[in-house]
Amino acid sequence: MTDESGAKRIIFRGYQLLTLQVDHQPYGWLADAALVTRGPIIEWIGPQRELPAYDGDVQIQEGHGRFLSPGLIDCHTHLVYGGDRSAEWEQRLNGVSYEEIARRGGGILSTVKATREASEDELFASASQRVSAFLKQGVTAIEIKSGYGLNLDTERKMLRVARRIEQHFPVHVSKTLLAAHALPPEYNGRADDYIDHICEGMLPALIGMVDAVDIFCESIAFNPQQMQRVFAAARQLNPQIQLKAHVEQLSNLGGARRAAQMGALSVDHIEYLSATDCAILAEHGTVATLLPGAFYNLKETQKPPVDALRQAGVPIAISSDANPGSSPVASLLLMANMACNLFGLTPEEAIVGLTRNAARALGLDSAMGTLAPGMQANLAIWDIPHPAGLAHGIGHNPCLAVYYQGKRIHQADEA
Ligand code: NIG
Ligand code: FE
Repeated sequence: MTDESGAKRIIFRGYQLLTLQVDHQPYGWLADAALVTRGPIIEWIGPQRELPAYDGDVQIQEGHGRFLSPGLIDCHTHLVYGGDRSAEWEQRLNGVSYEEIARRGGGILSTVKATREASEDELFASASQRVSAFLKQGVTAIEIKSGYGLNLDTERKMLRVARRIEQHFPVHVSKTLLAAHALPPEYNGRADDYIDHICEGMLPALIGMVDAVDIFCESIAFNPQQMQRVFAAARQLNPQIQLKAHVEQLSNLGGARRAAQMGALSVDHIEYLSATDCAILAEHGTVATLLPGAFYNLKETQKPPVDALRQAGVPIAISSDANPGSSPVASLLLMANMACNLFGLTPEEAIVGLTRNAARALGLDSAMGTLAPGMQANLAIWDIPHPAGLAHGIGHNPCLAVYYQGKRIHQADEA
């Protein structure tokens, strides 16, 4: 077979593929298989013995039985921020609750202060370090939220940093406006006025910079009615805009079902989601994104309703929620481990949650999250004896190499 497009082919030969496709074996596992990329796209996958003969500009990669999966996708992060909250964590260990710290003007608001004071370059430098850690662990797509500005200029500054990350790193970046993350101090006692400002000032100015709009719907943040107003205003400005919501993290305000009914792509956290709500998510095709890092770090005890989500057939994604307060996490694979050990997911469900369902939570499932012809050639190669090994390790990085759109962008020293 000759390549007429001029795009270079790479033949990955002798690998165990984890395609993560539905209806295949668990993990979409194909032993003794091959995968061919052409330029930025996967051209062919199948059993080694059926590999077509190629000529022209072809590079061969020998797998020697190693595992190859789609690049991982972190579908919920807040990794652009200023400052540090380790001292607050110490307070929490001494018995002060997350809500109490938030009420005292700490928590999200202390990061808001530091983020407002930081320059765009400073934010880019610190976010770059965090992004690099994720990329070395096989992440090829990441969502980044604003939400530590809470005024037009700082929200815009954060989104510019997210755009710079996309321009400087070999990674897909989905950008989300989270202006409704907390009530800024200048609107104290006037939440509805701040929602007006989001709808009339921030959304019109910033919606062109983002893929999605998010809100924190909780007793310490905004209520479902306010969420509905923000979502309606966003959809009026751009009917295609994606909707996402932080809901039912500390209590059940009914935010998840309202978000699903408005067409939200995902609802995130959801520890307090009810079984009835699960059926509503399933009906609307909304992804349930579990954030075990926040659950662990806040020492929560209410677990997300995993059995009810399964029974209802709700797709489950897993994400880092990387942020300076509730989830100071720099490892997506650790989240898979925690999703299994803390929430009772199977390793396969956890890996699906970092790939196929994470892509779905970002509306990217036709381009990434599985291995199939026509999908982006975003690949990770692993030093693991079994697919469950991806979720089993704690503090290991078994990633040997990463390809983004057909180009190798990371190789571990020992590979
Ligand atoms: O997803 N739940 C609300 N927002 C973040 C917390 C951010 C922070 O603590 O700074 C979250 O956990
Ligand atoms: Fe979050």
